[in-house]
Formats: sequence, C-alpha cells, structure tokens
Amino acid sequence: MKKEDVLILAIESSCDETAASVVKNGRTILSNIISSQIELHKLYGGVVPEIASRKHIEKINQVISEALSEAKVTLDDLDAIGVTYGPGLVGALLVGVTEAKAISFAKNIPLVGVHHIEGHISANYIEHPDLKPPFVSLVVSGGHSHLVLVKDYGKYEIIGRTRDDAAGEAFDKVARAIGLGYPGGPKIDRLSKEGDPYAIKFPRAKIQDSPYDFSFSGLKSAVLNYLNGAKMKGEKVVNEDVAASFQKAVIDVLVDHSMKAAEAYGLKKFAIAGGVASNSSLRTAMEKACAERGISFYYPSPIYCTDNAAMIGVAAYYEYLAGTRHGIDLNAVPNLKLGER
Ligand code: KG4
Ligand code: ZN
Repeated sequence: MKKEDVLILAIESSCDETAASVVKNGRTILSNIISSQIELHKLYGGVVPEIASRKHIEKINQVISEALSEAKVTLDDLDAIGVTYGPGLVGALLVGVTEAKAISFAKNIPLVGVHHIEGHISANYIEHPDLKPPFVSLVVSGGHSHLVLVKDYGKYEIIGRTRDDAAGEAFDKVARAIGLGYPGGPKIDRLSKEGDPYAIKFPRAKIQDSPYDFSFSGLKSAVLNYLNGAKMKGEKVVNEDVAASFQKAVIDVLVDHSMKAAEAYGLKKFAIAGGVASNSSLRTAMEKACAERGISFYYPSPIYCTDNAAMIGVAAYYEYLAGTRHGIDLNAVPNLKLGER
C-alpha cells in the first residue's frame, strides 16, 4: 500500500444484507463481504424489519473483521469510514450507522454518510475504469425505480421515478402469485427462459406528461386478474408464459423510458444499477437498444447489483474527495432524498 492511497472501510445494512468492504482509491475492491439474511426472511415471504435489525447486530462485527482481514489492513490503515445512512429500514440502517460512528470516534477517522442509490449507481465504476459522469442511470431495485441524470460525481438529478411499486417489488409480488417464493426476481428471470414473452398481453403503463416516470401496480394487478380469471374458468395456467410475458412488459417500459431519457439529454453513456439490473433479459434488451443508438452501455456484475458494501465504498470515496464529512450526530434517514447531505 502506498502512502498516497486512500483506503475506505464501507458498511451497508439498509435492508437484509449485512455487508462490509475495503475499497482502495475508489475503484479497487480489496474485500467485499456480504452476509445475506434471505434464507431467514424467505419463511415470511419478504423482509421482516425487526428480524433484519437483530440479525445485523449479530453479524456486523464479524463481517467487518472479515472485510479487514481479507483486505490485509487494520482500522489504523483507514482514511475514512463510509456508511449507508438512508434510504432504507430505519432499524437496519441504525446498526450500520452506529457501528460506523463508533469506529470513526474511537479511531478518529473521518465519517462519510452515503445515499444507498448513490452507492448502486457507483457500482458501475468498479469494473468500468473508463466510466465517468455525465451519464444517465436506471436504478431498479426492490425499493426503487429511478431514472437519474448523473451530472458529476455526487451530483444527481432524478428525472423519472415510480408512481407506485418499484420494479423489484413487482417481480417479487408476481413471483409470489405464481408460487415461486422470495426473492422473486431471480426466479422469474430463470423461469422466463422457458416461457413465451408474447403469450399473454400485459399492459405497458405510460404516464401523461411524465415520459420518464414508471407505474408497475397496474401490471401487477393485470397479472393477478389473469391468474384469477384462468382459475375461475378452470383454464390451465402456464407459469413460464406468465413469467416471461410479465418480465417482457417490465423490460419494454424500462428500455423505452431509459432510451428516451438518454436521447433527450444527449448523453452517449447509459448505466443500469440495483438488484433488478442483474436480470439477464433486461441486460440483453438494454445492450441491443443502446447499440442501435450508438450509446455505450454499462452494467455491474450481479454481485455488485444487489446490495453490497463495495458500491458504498466507491460512492464514499468520491464524497470524501469532495469534502463530505459527517459528525457523530449522523442519523439514519429512512426516506433520505438523493443529493441531500
Ligand atoms: O438492490 P437490491 O439488492 O435491494 C434493494 O435495494 O431493494 O434489490 C433486490 C431486488 C429484489 O426485488 C429482487 O427480486 C430483485 O432485486 N432482483 C431481480 C433479479 N435479481 C434480484 N429482479 C429481476 N431479475 C433478477 N435476476
Ligand atoms: Zn439496494
């Protein structure tokens, strides 16, 4: 390690993953430890906030120790601690924030609070050393569906958002309706490969005067109505076709809005982020749409799409360079807005 290297320990605990990572100079990941609670929450069909918080408390010290030892560094080598302080589940966020504050105070290391979405977008910097702002990013996860104009590091403008369900939420709810269990996204992804995406006509919602906003609750209801209708008529439901047709409806809207945004803002770079960004058909469709328009397409590896701390470390690095510092009064902000400090 050279003296001028900037080493950041990052912590992420906003939902159901307890994660810690050590990041060097913003783009080199020295360790990326993730303790997932998925198996625990599966029993209940979704994340139970109280259980999530308790599990984070149990795991966080162990996850941080592993992240440090895998990176072959100690707390004394660190230049800053980065931590997700919102948005997310308040009890879950508090575990990471409190831990980060304790380390920062005990070791006298600067504390940098990070917005979870800024983390997801920053995941794209890890494997694409050439990627620099400005670009347009589509962030699609279990809690968010945002089209974001990334003007510069740390400078964002939300140009589109969901009016109701997040894309990942729609995947999870439809998966549950066809008996696939939690989390539904990866399961629908897999099942869709055996189905016909044109078998059932599901709606593609458009919002008047808001070309970049999304709405997925009508689509979710259409799938549920289709399933109920078939049951009442005693018709056989082909789950593969339901999954493929639903997934195609989501992807069509995501691709259409994203390309409109990239073209309207005249940007030749486009990046996807968040758990849903690991969807294989979404990646293929975006790749094709971008290629047709001469737009460079960026996406993180699946491990950096779903929640992780490496992406928080990358975002924290650019915030650190910009001079962002938080005090011991940093609090968890469950509904934190992107761009707020
Ligand atoms: O980013 P993430 O780990 O957590 C949030 O910040 O919400 O995203 C989790 C979401 C879940 O809704 C999950 O079903 C979805 O991402 N997801 C997928 C895939 N992998 C995860 N959705 C579609 N296709 C996938 N392959
Ligand atoms: Zn997330």
